[in-house]
Amino acid sequence: MRRLFPLPADERPAAPEGGRWSIDDLAEAYAYPEPAASGRGVWLRANMVSSLDGAAHHEGRSQPLSSAADMRIFGVLRGLADAVVVGAQTVRQEGYGPARERDVFVRRRAAAGQGPAPAIAVVSAGLDLDFSAPLFTRPVVPTLLVTGAAAPSDRIEAARHAGAEVVFAGEGTAAEPARLVAALAERGLRRLLTEGGPRLLGELVSGEVLDELCLTVAPRVTSGEAVRIVNGPGMQVPVDFRLAGVLEEDGFLFTRYQRPGPAAE
Ligand SMILES: NC(=O)c1ccc[n+]([C@@H]2O[C@H](COP(=O)([O-])OP(=O)(O)OC[C@H]3O[C@@H](n4cnc5c(N)ncnc54)[C@H](OP(=O)(O)O)[C@@H]3O)[C@@H](O)[C@H]2O)c1
Repeated sequence: MRRLFPLPADERPAAPEGGRWSIDDLAEAYAYPEPAASGRGVWLRANMVSSLDGAAHHEGRSQPLSSAADMRIFGVLRGLADAVVVGAQTVRQEGYGPARERDVFVRRRAAAGQGPAPAIAVVSAGLDLDFSAPLFTRPVVPTLLVTGAAAPSDRIEAARHAGAEVVFAGEGTAAEPARLVAALAERGLRRLLTEGGPRLLGELVSGEVLDELCLTVAPRVTSGEAVRIVNGPGMQVPVDFRLAGVLEEDGFLFTRYQRPGPAAE
């Protein structure tokens, strides 16, 4: 794996000696900015993968677009996060389990005042989720369920019974993006990672709470009907991001884009 941007002459070598990026090298490359830099006291980063032709999945899964290096970065981004925010359809379709406690992150997480693994925060309005699954019954740290106050009360009870912490972030059945991130921040979860899917990301982008997009561009073309990585309401004015970094391995580009901070606006 090599660094394409920032250019090697700017600061760091293009790759550590031997060309092999350790987990620590990647953790340094993807260190979270101070949550205060967003102006909201929370930093929300998304990690997504896309084919060259813009598909966010192939036959309903993102795995066919991924690679070994992509999965390493996926693991590092989880290892750095306080919480992973994910849409209910991705949980259902990708069979989400709890985040693992990983030895390589134990010291780093403890030093950063983080729990042993990130909490998974599932966002759902209908709550049609399998609350008997290990994601809810056997997590390393309790799974959060983010929903609206009018979500089905029997399902809320079922989630609580399974051990989930229910977080209300809206008056209807949906969670409002700004309230969602504020509710997680209130619980001390300020370094947030969302793994999508596209509809949840659409909500977060249109709610103007996304600070960073880590986008893997896979050197594959899939054609077909798959949606893009952001699948939300159209915007009157496109939102600008600035390039913060690019790594490359086996033709996969690991890009990192950030919203200009409040100081730059
Ligand atoms: N390329 C990638 O990096 C990537 C990443 C993740 C997923 N994917 C793929 O994307 C597909 C699934 O994506 P998707 O867009 O259909 O689903 P999604 O965004 O994961 O989930 C959509 C669901 O999330 C809940 N939701 C979203 N916004 C909400 C809000 N504001 N308040 C309350 N609930 C909210 C709703 O759940 P309820 O229906 O329960 O109410 C909604 O139906 C899968 O094929 C998966 O493989 C790709």
